[in-house]
Amino acid sequence: MNLIDGKATAARIREELKEKAALLTAKGVQPGLAVVLIGDDPASRSYVTAKERACDEMGLYSRDIRKPAETTEEELLSLIDELNSDDAIHGILIQLPLPSHIDSDRVIERIIPTKDVDGFHPVSVGKMMLGQETFLPCTPHGIIKLLEEKNIETSGAEVVVVGRSNIVGKPIANMLLQKCHPGNSTVTICHTGTKDLISHTKRADIIIAAAGRPDTITADMVKEGAVIIDVGVNRVPDDTKKRGYRLVGDVDFEGLKEKASYITPVPGGVGPMTITMLLYNTVLSAERRSNNAL
Ligand code: GUN
Repeated sequence: MNLIDGKATAARIREELKEKAALLTAKGVQPGLAVVLIGDDPASRSYVTAKERACDEMGLYSRDIRKPAETTEEELLSLIDELNSDDAIHGILIQLPLPSHIDSDRVIERIIPTKDVDGFHPVSVGKMMLGQETFLPCTPHGIIKLLEEKNIETSGAEVVVVGRSNIVGKPIANMLLQKCHPGNSTVTICHTGTKDLISHTKRADIIIAAAGRPDTITADMVKEGAVIIDVGVNRVPDDTKKRGYRLVGDVDFEGLKEKASYITPVPGGVGPMTITMLLYNTVLSAERRSNNAL
C-alpha cells in the first residue's frame, strides 16, 4: 500500500504559488480573494477561516465578508456586483450552503466568470465540459493533481466515481474523461439510483468515493491493486476525542489499506488539496488579469 499524502503535495504546490504571488505583487497585482459567509454555521465558519489563513500565509490579499443569516438575496447580489467590479479582487468565493431563502443558482450566476475561482458558474462548468480553458472546481482539480503527482495511469483506466454532486462527482467524472493527461479514462458514475454498486466497483482500476457516507466502499467491493481516492469528510461520534467526534472518509481505510495500491487517508488526503487549488485559481486569475493589462 502506498499512502497518497495530500498534505505534502499541497505544501509543494503552495510553495510554487507563494513565489508566483510575490512576483505578481511586485508587478502591482497582488492576488486577492473575497470570501463571503452568510450566517454562522460552525463547519462553514471553520472552512472560511482556514481559507483566509491560507491566503495570509501565501501573501494573498483576502477580504473576509461575514453577513447575518437574515441577509436578503438582493443584498447578496449587490455585494457580488461590487466585488465583480473591484480591481483588488481576483476571486470571489460564496461559501455554500446558503440559507434556504437565498437561491444559490442565482447567486452563483451573478459572479463574473473571470472571478469564479470555485468553478461553479454555468459558464465555467460548460467550458470544463468542452475542455476549454477555465477555472476547474477545487476538490476535483486537487484529485487530478494527486493522481499526477503519483504518476497514476489514468489513460484507458476504468474509473468508478461514487456520488454525483455538482461539486465533486460530476466534475471529476468529466475531467477524467477528457482526452488529455491525466484523463482519457473510461468513467462510470454510480449514485443512490445504482442497482448493483459492487458490480461496478469490483472492476475499477481507480475508485473515487464522494458519496458523503462512511463505509460506502469496503474491501470486498474492490479488486486487488485498485487506487482509492476518498473524498468523504464525515463526523462520527467518538468519546475518546475532546471534541466528541472524529473524521472518517467514505471508505473503510483499515480494511482497504493492504488491498489498494494507492489510497488517500482522511484527514490528510484530498482535503488539504481543496484550499490549495482555490489559491491556485486565485493566483491564476490575477495572472490572467496581469497579462491582459500588458
Ligand atoms: N461548501 C463546501 N465545499 C465548498 C466549496 O468548495 N466551495 C464553496 N464555495 N462552498 C463550499
